[in-house]
Amino acid sequence: MTIERVGVIGGGLMGSGIAEVCARSGSQVVIHEVDARTAEAALERVQTSLNRAIERGKMSESERSGILARIILSTDLDDQTDRQLVIEAATENEELKKQIFSDLDRIVTDESAILASNTSSIPITRLGAVTARPESVIGLHFFNPVPVMALVEMVTTVKTAEATEQRARAYAEGLGKTVIQAKDRAGFVVNMLLVPYMLAAIRMHEAGVASAEDIDTGMRLGANHPMGPLELTDFVGLDTTKYVADVLFDEFKEPLYASPPLLTRMVEAGLLGRKTGAGFYRYD
Ligand code: 3HC
Repeated sequence: MTIERVGVIGGGLMGSGIAEVCARSGSQVVIHEVDARTAEAALERVQTSLNRAIERGKMSESERSGILARIILSTDLDDQTDRQLVIEAATENEELKKQIFSDLDRIVTDESAILASNTSSIPITRLGAVTARPESVIGLHFFNPVPVMALVEMVTTVKTAEATEQRARAYAEGLGKTVIQAKDRAGFVVNMLLVPYMLAAIRMHEAGVASAEDIDTGMRLGANHPMGPLELTDFVGLDTTKYVADVLFDEFKEPLYASPPLLTRMVEAGLLGRKTGAGFYRYD
């Protein structure tokens, strides 16, 4: 049974990107947001991304119209009732996500519907446990910027049914993504490796070994990374990086996941990276 009707809960940076790739692949997508203003902002993000594709000659005007016609904005979670797949991409707050999963369990009528989370840090098992259908709950973790990044991490719990896995994988592959599968452990595959690397770069900078520019240039030119680790931390957000590091530290109690004091102080000072105009670098 192919998935044609998708819901995305939360239209922030990740949610709007996920909605865009789903609509691009032909699905009808209902984006849920808390109010009309944030819903409009989500749509604007999708429009900006599609306009960029048109400017680069990668998309026609009629393709853009078709994609936008498949996106519906909503502020009522009941509008998810007929969805075959719902991807939750709300703020990384466990209580909020649990409430969403509990509500979706009540609202989504199709028993074979998949309830997925884009969380990068909260155990999928805990989200499944608040529903009466943990066999249909799975993690689908996308990467920023979603339209560009080719990976989806699929996270399965001890309760996830094989049919859920197979349909979720087929859907993500249909979006043009490569899927890797991970068990429900903090950080899954990518963040478990990437976050300690970013923290190591912050410690190196804090110790005065090299400037932020030289650390980043080192990894861009010496290891062919598209961005250096401090640029990447600004891109991901210092608050998000610290949050994921704290979750990894809680789970494994390993010093390599401990947030360096510089990161903690910068977050406390509101230097969160690109989104606040300043982090390790300044942005206009
Ligand atoms: N939305 C849509 N398309 C975008 C985009 C966006 N936000 N940003 C860039 N693009 C597209 C451009 O249109 C361009 O497309 P084209 O090749 O088809 O013409 C392509 O991406 C390259 O863009 P640019 O030439 O403008 O810029 P760069 O070559 O510098 O690439 C980048 C930008 C793709 C962001 C690159 O620097 C990169 O890959 N950085 C690393 C990103 C990364 O590691 N992300 C993962 C973060 S970790 C995470 O998300 C997990 C979470 O849980 C913390």
